[in-house]
Amino acid sequence: MGKDLVGDCRVVDIHCHLLPDMDDGARSWEESLKMARIASESGINTVVATPHWIQGTVWEPNPDVVRKKVSELNELLCKNCIPLSVFPGMEIGISENVVELVSSGRVLTLAEGRYVLVEVPFFSLPVGIEEVVYRLVDRGFFPILAHPERSRDIQKNPKRICDLVDNGALIQITAGSLCGCFGGKAKKCALELIELDAVHIVASDAHSSDKRPPLLSKAMDIVKRIKGIEYTNRLLLNASRCLG
Ligand SMILES: [Fe+2]
Repeated sequence: MGKDLVGDCRVVDIHCHLLPDMDDGARSWEESLKMARIASESGINTVVATPHWIQGTVWEPNPDVVRKKVSELNELLCKNCIPLSVFPGMEIGISENVVELVSSGRVLTLAEGRYVLVEVPFFSLPVGIEEVVYRLVDRGFFPILAHPERSRDIQKNPKRICDLVDNGALIQITAGSLCGCFGGKAKKCALELIELDAVHIVASDAHSSDKRPPLLSKAMDIVKRIKGIEYTNRLLLNASRCLG
């Protein structure tokens, strides 16, 4: 990735479990730094840190804790000469009250702007997902559905995503899905969503420095091979717009 892409295009990873001790992502500051180094060396220059926020579980981090860790991490990156900027965010488990959670400030939007990263469950699509999208859009937010290609319902019928897109949802697929890291079904579905023109952003959804590292380059090369440079740049620009 890099030299063929638009010169001033920021490479932004909008979905990354980079902060330590928040969820099933990085376990320590050392691990966060390792992940940051991998991201930076692979051409990513901005990451939105998106710990899980899932209602009714131990993963309901306080936004101020996320902001504080992001600021500490940015200082550490500076001290360690790693040219990467980190912004606060969250991956919000879907529930019918996402709009209220966002509006009340209980959860964080991406880089505290208008883009809301909503997790799509791996099995059935929840009843009412259309309503969640509709209500977020109605309140001036941009809902981004995270990794629907890993959902069994969408794998069976990728076209189901089109109605959600028509109603204003943006779709983020995970780089590892395109590379086959989550199996053939997720890969096939990711490719089908691209063909349906229903993909807006590719993100790493990284959780570690080894098993699920913050890499986009291989996936973007696959996108470039299938759809060309202009389409690939459009995806990169979409990601950079999430910074507000
Ligand atoms: Fe995630």
